[in-house]
Amino acid sequence: MTHRNLVVLTGAGVSAESGVPTFRASDGLWCGHRVEEVATPEGYAADPALVQDFYNQRRRQLAEVHPNAAHLALAELAARWEGDFLLVTQNVDDLHDRAHERVLPAPGFELIHMHGELLKGRCTRSGVVSRWTGDMAAHEPSPDHPDGRIRPHIVWFGEMSLRMDRIDRALSACDLFVSIGTSGNVYPAAGFVQQARHAGARTVEINLEPTLGRSMFDEGVYGPATRTVPEFFAGL
Ligand code: APR
Repeated sequence: MTHRNLVVLTGAGVSAESGVPTFRASDGLWCGHRVEEVATPEGYAADPALVQDFYNQRRRQLAEVHPNAAHLALAELAARWEGDFLLVTQNVDDLHDRAHERVLPAPGFELIHMHGELLKGRCTRSGVVSRWTGDMAAHEPSPDHPDGRIRPHIVWFGEMSLRMDRIDRALSACDLFVSIGTSGNVYPAAGFVQQARHAGARTVEINLEPTLGRSMFDEGVYGPATRTVPEFFAGL
């Protein structure tokens, strides 16, 4: 069966073999912090120095990691895919972006970081988003507004995911939906498989192991993403 409209959702599992530490550990803490402290607007208001330092560390770590075979397989797919291909990532690293710099994608391709990007900052007053590769100070002044500060361009808990209109449109038109390396714990991404099913798409989960949402997918492919992702898309 040939597919034309593809939506791929990725999560922390796609970057795990590149050495990007996942935020959520088995003890429920994010690198020793409670989620409320470092990943909510209230946490930022209460202690901007702590929050900025947390994301400064993650931003610096990006210099030490590289795209892996799964990112590269998706970039190569984007170059040869003849229909629409929307790649939606929940990851805030830039490993998909770097993989796509190496191979020119076809015109129907688009990449969306629905939870934001470590390498961008946002003015708290004007909302202007700009590229940001260095550290952010606790009260980083904004060049876009005299009373504004620059905060990480990251979607924190309680905030709206980005570009949802575009993602909803793609899901309602897709005929193949593939979810890679995500636990399916966090909405709205966790609901994408239902939206794709509703559109009549074939749905596939690729993960180290079956997730709690496995029964919502037509198929499951299990093993490390650097092996399973290239194999799955080579066989399409
Ligand atoms: N290959 C494939 N899958 C893997 C691999 C691997 N090498 N390593 C881990 N996984 C899978 C795990 O089995 C798990 O299902 O990746 C998933 C990671 O799950 P989470 O840590 O919950 O990450 P994610 O689903 O991306 O989290 C979603 O929650 O933490 C917030 O906003 C943050 O974007 C993030 C969102």
